[in-house]
Amino acid sequence: MASIGIVYYSMYGHTTEMARTLKQGIEKDGGEAHLRLVPELLPQQLIEDQGVATVDQLDDVEEASVDELPGFDGIIFGSPTRFGNRAAQLSNFLDQTGPLWQAGELHGKTAGFFTGAATMHGGHESTILTMSTYAMHLGMVIVPAGYALGETMGATRTGGSPYGPTHWSPQGGTKDGLSDDESQIALSYAQWFHQVTEKLAA
Ligand SMILES: Cc1cc2nc3c(=O)[nH]c(=O)nc-3n(C[C@H](O)[C@H](O)[C@H](O)COP(=O)(O)O)c2cc1C
Repeated sequence: MASIGIVYYSMYGHTTEMARTLKQGIEKDGGEAHLRLVPELLPQQLIEDQGVATVDQLDDVEEASVDELPGFDGIIFGSPTRFGNRAAQLSNFLDQTGPLWQAGELHGKTAGFFTGAATMHGGHESTILTMSTYAMHLGMVIVPAGYALGETMGATRTGGSPYGPTHWSPQGGTKDGLSDDESQIALSYAQWFHQVTEKLAA
């Protein structure tokens, strides 16, 4: 059974919902999935003014730890889109993994990516690309979604991409659920990621 870490940041909870769906898909396929939220960096005043939910999410999700990463067979990284880029909170966490990079600790493990953005053309793909450079430097084996995960992938009118699962959250900060297509793509991707990870880890 492969052990997969889902390491992500979420400000309002949309990315957490995607992470939970991926976990469900991995477990349905017989794998082990661990949700890990990276630490918040926003000033406390902003958190209070904007109703940021990051801290609340830690009720049932553990905080990510750099030391734990080598114990996973594969890692799926997630971040909401920030001006077409990955969030600083995820970057800050990844920037602490220099010793793992130097020791080649993540080399050969699988890597995948997921994201959400408030507008359909506001940066889903570019955010996944900005996360993927990290995996390249660490020598991880990137598992993209491609178009072969089922009919949904080629027909979705909301999120979901060949780069990895995505979520269109048009209300911005307002919490809305994943569309049926987005859920289906995330579940299929999780199964695919688990299967590839299991083969590579064997
Ligand atoms: C500072 C900031 C920058 C953002 N930049 C973008 C962007 O470039 N494109 C976009 O479509 N949405 C953008 N958004 C919206 C978020 O990506 C979107 O609401 C996200 O899905 C929220 O995920 P979360 O609920 O996990 O925090 C931005 C939001 C914030 C707060």
